[in-house]
Amino acid sequence: MILRVDDVAFRYRSVPVLDGVSFSLNRGEVLAVLGNNGAGKSTLIKVINKILRPQRGTAYVDGKDVRSLTLLEIAQKVAYVSQRNESPRFTVFDAVLLGRKPYIKWDVTERDIQIVEDVLRRMRLEDYALRYLTELSGGELQKVVIARALAQEPEVLLFDEPTNNLDLRNQLEVLSIMRDLVKERKIAGVVVLHDLNLALRFADKFLFLKDRKVYAAGGPEVMAPEVIRAVYGVSVVVTHVSGIPVIVPLEAEQPSLPEREGASIRGDGAEDEAKLQAAAAETAMSALDGRRRRA
Ligand SMILES: Nc1ncnc2c1ncn2[C@@H]1O[C@H](COP(=O)(O)OP(=O)(O)O)[C@@H](O)[C@H]1O
Ligand SMILES: [Mg+2]
Repeated sequence: MILRVDDVAFRYRSVPVLDGVSFSLNRGEVLAVLGNNGAGKSTLIKVINKILRPQRGTAYVDGKDVRSLTLLEIAQKVAYVSQRNESPRFTVFDAVLLGRKPYIKWDVTERDIQIVEDVLRRMRLEDYALRYLTELSGGELQKVVIARALAQEPEVLLFDEPTNNLDLRNQLEVLSIMRDLVKERKIAGVVVLHDLNLALRFADKFLFLKDRKVYAAGGPEVMAPEVIRAVYGVSVVVTHVSGIPVIVPLEAEQPSLPEREGASIRGDGAEDEAKLQAAAAETAMSALDGRRRRA
């Protein structure tokens, strides 16, 4: 077990955000952290990274309580890509080289340079090496920040909404690079995502936060319509297209549904289920149609 979060409770001043959050992650696993805006996902990531100190509980990286590690020691074990990123006047190469900072004693070594070059190649950023960050698009900048995290050669990767500024191709590329690295180096990845389909495709485990607590956690089986409806208030069906599991949102539930008062206006479960299945089939068919037309 490379990462363990144990009974974490956190509040900002008087605002409680996390309460009794626990989970663990093995080497070679990617965990997707899911939940509404404001659910505490970024807060949880920052607790793991010791940026925030919880009022109760703690996180353990490779068996060590993060509270006992210095910031330098944490930087050698945990790489963090935050939700918001700055872009100072660095070149791409220098920005990625910064990822080596936790290891550099006096001067940059050949090995540091080698690592940076490898990462740039892997992220397909070689041609950008000498560009300034200010000259990059949002998506390119995002890839540079991720490249820096990889250059850190961490044991745990923490990515907070890493695909936010990325186009479709780059979203898939960044997440598959992360997954491959996690498997190859036997490290662990924690990634906050809003896109349930990307989560389903690239993560091994899933953790839903709701009302300050872990609402559901586990393997792909927790990506169930009931869980998604409870967490996001949206009805979905899970179907398959070309063997890939796909979550199709149907409709956002109206918060004013009289369900709460006990007078359900929803049909019985069976009828709902039939409608959902029909909608899923329709969506899958039109996706396949689109494919055929393109082919
Ligand atoms: N520095 C802060 N001070 C006070 N409240 C904060 C601070 N940062 C976040 N919050 C609040 O804590 C809650 C959780 O935030 P966050 O962890 O960023 O959620 P998420 O990443 O899931 O959208 C939100 O209600 C947010 O407004
Ligand atoms: Mg966030």
